[in-house]
Amino acid sequence: MKINFLSRIQNKIFLSLMLAAILPIGYFGYNSIKSTRNSLIDDTLRKMYLNVFAMGKDMDNHLKNAKGDLLYLKSSAPLEYLLDAMEFNDIASFTYWRTLLEKEFSNLIEQKNVYLQAGFLSRDGDEIVLVVYDMSRPIILPWKSLHNQRESGYFRMAAELSNGEIASLPLRSYVVKGLNLSNIALMRYITPVYNRNGKWMGMIYIDVMGKHIYNTVKMSIMDRAFKVFLVNNKGFYFFNPEWEVEENLLTPSDTPENIGEVYSKEVVSQILSGKAGVIMDDDKNMFAYMPVFPSEMDKNFYYTIIQMYPKNLISGGAKDFEKLFLITVLSSILLTVLMGIIISKMLTNPLSRLKRGVQLIGKGNLDYRLDIKSGDEVEDVAVEFNNMAEKLKKYSRTLEEKVEEKTKKMEDYEKQLIHSEKMASLGLLAAGVAHEINNPIGIIVNRIECLKMENKNGDIPEKIVKDLDTMMHHAMRVSKITGNLLSFSRESSHEFKSQDINKILEKVLMFVEASITAKGITMEKYLAMRLPFVFGSSGGLEQVFLNIVHNAMDATKSGGKIKIETRYNVQNSEADGYYPTGNGQGNGKCLSINISDTGDGIPHEYIGKIFDPFFTTKEIGKGTGLGLSISYGIIKEHGGEIRVDSEVSKGTTFTVLLPVMAE
Ligand SMILES: Nc1ncnc2c1ncn2[C@@H]1O[C@H](COP(=O)(O)OP(=O)(O)OP(=O)(O)O)[C@@H](O)[C@H]1O
Ligand SMILES: [Mg+2]
Repeated sequence: MKINFLSRIQNKIFLSLMLAAILPIGYFGYNSIKSTRNSLIDDTLRKMYLNVFAMGKDMDNHLKNAKGDLLYLKSSAPLEYLLDAMEFNDIASFTYWRTLLEKEFSNLIEQKNVYLQAGFLSRDGDEIVLVVYDMSRPIILPWKSLHNQRESGYFRMAAELSNGEIASLPLRSYVVKGLNLSNIALMRYITPVYNRNGKWMGMIYIDVMGKHIYNTVKMSIMDRAFKVFLVNNKGFYFFNPEWEVEENLLTPSDTPENIGEVYSKEVVSQILSGKAGVIMDDDKNMFAYMPVFPSEMDKNFYYTIIQMYPKNLISGGAKDFEKLFLITVLSSILLTVLMGIIISKMLTNPLSRLKRGVQLIGKGNLDYRLDIKSGDEVEDVAVEFNNMAEKLKKYSRTLEEKVEEKTKKMEDYEKQLIHSEKMASLGLLAAGVAHEINNPIGIIVNRIECLKMENKNGDIPEKIVKDLDTMMHHAMRVSKITGNLLSFSRESSHEFKSQDINKILEKVLMFVEASITAKGITMEKYLAMRLPFVFGSSGGLEQVFLNIVHNAMDATKSGGKIKIETRYNVQNSEADGYYPTGNGQGNGKCLSINISDTGDGIPHEYIGKIFDPFFTTKEIGKGTGLGLSISYGIIKEHGGEIRVDSEVSKGTTFTVLLPVMAE
C-alpha cells in the first residue's frame, strides 16, 4: 500500500503527540495510584490506631475510676464508725452506721450508674452491706437475705491483701451472642478493710458493669465500615458488633466464640500479645489493637480493643480512584487524539494545499494562486510557487500568441496554395480548350489572309476589307490568348537544364529596362554573387520574371521604384512552410528572387484571386489575366513556390522560391 507523504507526516506528528501526552499520564498515574493506595492504607491504619488508643485510654480511665470509687467507699466515715461499733459490739451504733453505709453505697451506685453491685463483708465473711443495681436504680438488700461468703474466692483473696491494696477479679471470661455487654458485670474490684488500730475487719468490693465500655466502643465506631471488637487475652469475645442485630435473642448462645476462629493465627497472636499495634493480614484486612489492663497487680489478664477495616472497602476506595484515573486517562487520550488531529492538520494543511496547487497547475490552471500564511518555510515555498505560476502563465501566453501567429500564417499559405492549385488545374483546362481553339483560329486567319491576297485588284468593296481587318485583328487577339494558354500545357514546356537565375534575370531586365526608365521608374538590382544553379527551363523562367516585372511596371507610377533581388540559402521567414525538393536534383536548399515595387498594391480582397486565370484589373485589351496563373504553373513545375505580399498604395513584393541544384 502506498502511504502518501502528508499522511506519513500526519501519522508521525500524531504518534509523537500521543506518546508525549500518554507517557507522563501513564507514569504519573501509575505512581500516584500506587502512592495513593499506600497512603490510603497508612492513613487508615493511623486513624485506626488513634481510635483504639483513645478507646483504650477511656476504658483504662473508667477502670481507674472504679478503683478510686472503691477507695472512696473504704475511707467513708460511716464505714469507719461501723468498724468501731463492730469492734466494741455496740449493736445500736452498728445498726445506725450500717444503714448510713448502705446509703453511701447506694448513692454511689446511683450516681455512677456503672456498678452492678457493691458490698461490705466482715472478717468472718458475713455480708454486712449489699447494694445491687437493678433496672437503673440501686436496691439495698435487707439484712435477713444476706449470706456468709467465707468460702468465696474473692473473700479469701481479700484476706491476702495488705492494707490499701486493690485486687481485680474478672467476673466473666467471655460474653456470648444474645447477651448485652452493658448489663453484665465484668470485673470485681476488692480491697481489705482495716480499722484505725490497723486490725483487719473485712473487705469491700464493687462490680464494674460493661455499660460504660459498651457505650465507649459503640460511640467510637467511626463508621459502619470499621468494626470494633472487645476480646479478652484468650481471644474470647466480650463485644462483637455482628451480634448487635441479634441482641434480643431469647436464649443466649451457650458457646463462647473466639477471635481465632475468624482470623489467621499470626494476626490473632499479634493482637493478643498484650501490646498495642497495627497489622494487616494476607487478605488485606487491617487491624489496630490496644490492650487494657484492669489490674496493676495481675498483668496476665487484660482486654484487647480491636478495630478492623475490611479489605474490600479499601480496594473499593482504590477502585473508585482507579476508575477516576481510567476516565482521566481515557479522556486525555481522547483529547490528545483530537489535539493530534487538529495540530497535524494545521501543520500539514499548508502542505496539502501546496500539493493541490501543484496538481491544479499541472492540469493547466495557470491562474491558480496559493494563499498560505503559515509564517514558515511552507509560506516561502508558496510565494515561490506563485512566482513560478506567474512566469509560467506569461510564458504560456507568449507561446500561445506565437502559435496563433504561425497558425494564421500557415492557414493563409494553405489557402493560397489550395486556391492556386485549383486555379492551376483550371488553367490546364483552359490550355486544353485553347489548343482546340488554336486550329480553327489558324484556319480563320489563313482564310482572311487568302481573301486579302485575292483582293489585289480591289474587287472587294472597301467596307468589307475593313471588316476583314477587324476580323483579322480579333482573330489575332484570340490567337494570342490561346498561345498564352498553351504555355500552361505540357506541350509548351521547355527543356530543363541547369540555369543561372542571375543570367535569366539580366536577360529579362534588358528587355524591359528601356520601357521602365521611359516610364520614369527607377530600377534597382541586387543580384547575389555565386548563386547556385537551379534545374529548370530558361524560357519558362524568363516568362515568369517578365510577367512579374511587367505587372510591377503597370502598377507603379512615374517616380516609383522597382527592386530586383536574388538571395541564396533562404532560411528566414521568407521560406516558411517551403521545403525544396529540387526535382530530385536539389540539396534541400533554396534561393529566392524578390521583385518589389512601390506601386498601387493589391487590395486585400484580390490577393486570393490574382493567380486565377483571367483575373485582371486592367482595362480590356490590355491584360488577359493569365500572366500570374501561367507563372504559377511554371514555378510549380520547377518545384518552387511563388508568394505575394502587398500593401495598398505602398507596394507589392513577389517572391519566387526555387530549389537549388546539388553542387
Ligand atoms: N505588381 C503589381 N501591382 C499591382 N497589382 C498587380 C501587380 N501584379 C499583378 N497585379 C494584379 O494582378 C492582376 C493579374 O495579373 P496577371 O499578370 O495575371 O494579369 P494581367 O497583368 O492583368 O494580364 P496579362 O498579364 O495577361 O497581361 C493584375 O490585373 C493586377 O490587378
Ligand atoms: Mg501580367
